[in-house]
Amino acid sequence: MDVARNLSELNAALENFDRCGARKVFVPTMGNLHDGHLHLMTEARRYGDGVVASVYVNPMQFGPGEDFESYPRTEKQDLAQLKDCGVDLVFMPDISDIYPREVEAHTTVEVPELGAILCGASRPGHFRGVTTVVNRLFNLVAPQAAVFGKKDYQQWLLIRLMVADLGMPIEVIGVDTVRGADGLALSSRNGYLSEAERAIAPKLYETLGWMAGQISEQGAYAGDFLAGIESQARDRLQGFGFDPDYISVRRQGDLGVPQTGDQEWVILAAAQLGKTRLIDNLEVNLKPSD
Ligand code: PAF
Repeated sequence: MDVARNLSELNAALENFDRCGARKVFVPTMGNLHDGHLHLMTEARRYGDGVVASVYVNPMQFGPGEDFESYPRTEKQDLAQLKDCGVDLVFMPDISDIYPREVEAHTTVEVPELGAILCGASRPGHFRGVTTVVNRLFNLVAPQAAVFGKKDYQQWLLIRLMVADLGMPIEVIGVDTVRGADGLALSSRNGYLSEAERAIAPKLYETLGWMAGQISEQGAYAGDFLAGIESQARDRLQGFGFDPDYISVRRQGDLGVPQTGDQEWVILAAAQLGKTRLIDNLEVNLKPSD
C-alpha cells in the first residue's frame, strides 16, 4: 500500500494507476476508522481496479465549539487497517495541500436548499465545508467512482447533487450503514459515549424502527399522520434521555416532505446524548399496494 503525504507524492502514485488505465475508486474519510469505514473500502473494490482512501480531518466542516481539536487522530491504526483491507493508496494530506491559503480565504462549493435543511440547519456551514473539501479531493484524486456511507444520508445526497450540478464524471455510490449487534450505527463519535450512554444509544435506531412500523401499517399517507408519529418519536427519545435535534420523515431522493402516494421514504434523526451528537436514518419502501 502506498501512502502519499503531500501533493507531489499523490501525483506520483496516481500516475501508476493512470498509466495502466486503472479505474480508481475513492473513499474519503476523516480517519479514526471503524468497521463501517472498512466496509466502505471492501465495497469500493467491487467498483474498480484501485482503491484510493484519504484520511483528513477537515477544519472547514467543524463549527465553532465543535470537536475539531479533539477529533481522534489515530494515524498508525488507520494505516494498518487500510493495509489489511487491501487499499492501494492512502492520501494523508497536510492542511497546506488542501487549503494553500487560509481556510477562510478558500473558494467554497455549496449546495443550496438541500444543504440548508436538517443537519444543515443545526450546523450552519457544515455542509459547505464537506462539499468544498470533497470537491477539492475529487479534483486532486480524479477518481472514476467514489463511495460514501449512507449513515450520513444527507451528505451522500449532497455529494451526488454536487457531482451532477458541476458535471463531474464521477459515479457516487452509497453503501448501507454498518451496525453493532444492538443496532447502533457505527460512528467515530460513538467513542465519546459513556458506558451508560452507550447502553441508551441503540434506542435511536429502535425509535426509527418503531416509526417505520407505524408507516408500513398506515401506508403511504402523509400530512397529519406523519407529524403525529414524528412528535411521538420525539417524546420517546426524550423519555430515553436524548435531546432530539430533529426526527423527520422525508422523501429518499431529495429529502422533500413526502406527499401521500410517495413510496420511497427515509426517516432521519439527529439527537444529542450527553455531549455526543448521534445521527441515524432508516429507509422505508412502501409497496405499491400500501
Ligand atoms: O464523512 C466524512 O467522514 C467526511 O464528512 C468526509 C466526507 C470525509 C469529508 O471530510
